[in-house]
Amino acid sequence: MVTSRLAGKAAIVTGAASGIGRASAIRFAREGASVVIADINETGGEESADLIRREGGEASFKHCDVSDATNVQALVEETLAAHGRIDILFANAAYLDELFAVAETSEEVWNRHIGVTLTGVFLCCKYVIPHMIQAGGGSILATSSVGGSVAFDRQAAYCTAKAGVEMLMKTIARDYGRAGIRANALAPGAVYTPVMEDVKRRNPDGWDQVLRDMSLLERIWAEPEDIAAAAAYLVSDEAAFVTGTVLTVDGGWTAH
Ligand SMILES: NC(=O)c1ccc[n+]([C@@H]2O[C@H](COP(=O)([O-])OP(=O)(O)OC[C@H]3O[C@@H](n4cnc5c(N)ncnc54)[C@H](O)[C@@H]3O)[C@@H](O)[C@H]2O)c1
Repeated sequence: MVTSRLAGKAAIVTGAASGIGRASAIRFAREGASVVIADINETGGEESADLIRREGGEASFKHCDVSDATNVQALVEETLAAHGRIDILFANAAYLDELFAVAETSEEVWNRHIGVTLTGVFLCCKYVIPHMIQAGGGSILATSSVGGSVAFDRQAAYCTAKAGVEMLMKTIARDYGRAGIRANALAPGAVYTPVMEDVKRRNPDGWDQVLRDMSLLERIWAEPEDIAAAAAYLVSDEAAFVTGTVLTVDGGWTAH
């Protein structure tokens, strides 16, 4: 069921050219939000905005590398110029390549993971929060992963960055709750997005077997729309008393 919980709100969704970000941008727009799609992928980003506009929603694409402070400042300024406000920030973009154990991780790769996946979320929050305070509040959501609390094999930088994202949301919840800002994280399990299709193609049986062992449900993969539904709840006023938390959406993977 799609409601109008986000009517009149302006939202930024990073990493929305694809996967979870795209599904969430579409969902937010269906619930009434005006959505700014921020991504480094221009083709995918324009396509996400088109998909929304074609079904009558309001969306625009803005090229933004979230690891670059100047890019993020421009994103915030342009969103304010277009919409006059930023009610929702969904900081979802992450660096998903080059996964290694610590000894095999070069400093360059480490810095790329931390730069996009953790500093990228920090920068978006840093530049959005003053405007949310001025407007009397807002809702911040960041995409973590079950890898933010459970160590995955050979994903040292990714998991460390995601653990940082979860703590960052908690510190924002603490520092800005009285200013009307809520901050939460989502921790998906395995979601069937383009990046996972690629992983699955390279290792056709491996992941399905792991997920069959971990999922408590008949279905072993989440769809991006499963995560988008949780995101829409968390950024909406229905979650008005929910802050500083991590919502796990993993089919029960981490329950045992
Ligand atoms: N797919 C999964 O199983 C899964 C599980 C847990 C968490 N996640 C998290 O979900 C989020 C979305 O992942 P997805 O599976 O939809 O992947 P995806 O590859 O479909 O989407 C990621 C998007 O982020 C964009 N991006 C990458 N670097 C960027 C940068 N520097 N600036 C702006 N945009 C950038 C990409 O262009 C892409 O559009 C990520 O934070 C990921 O860590 C995914």
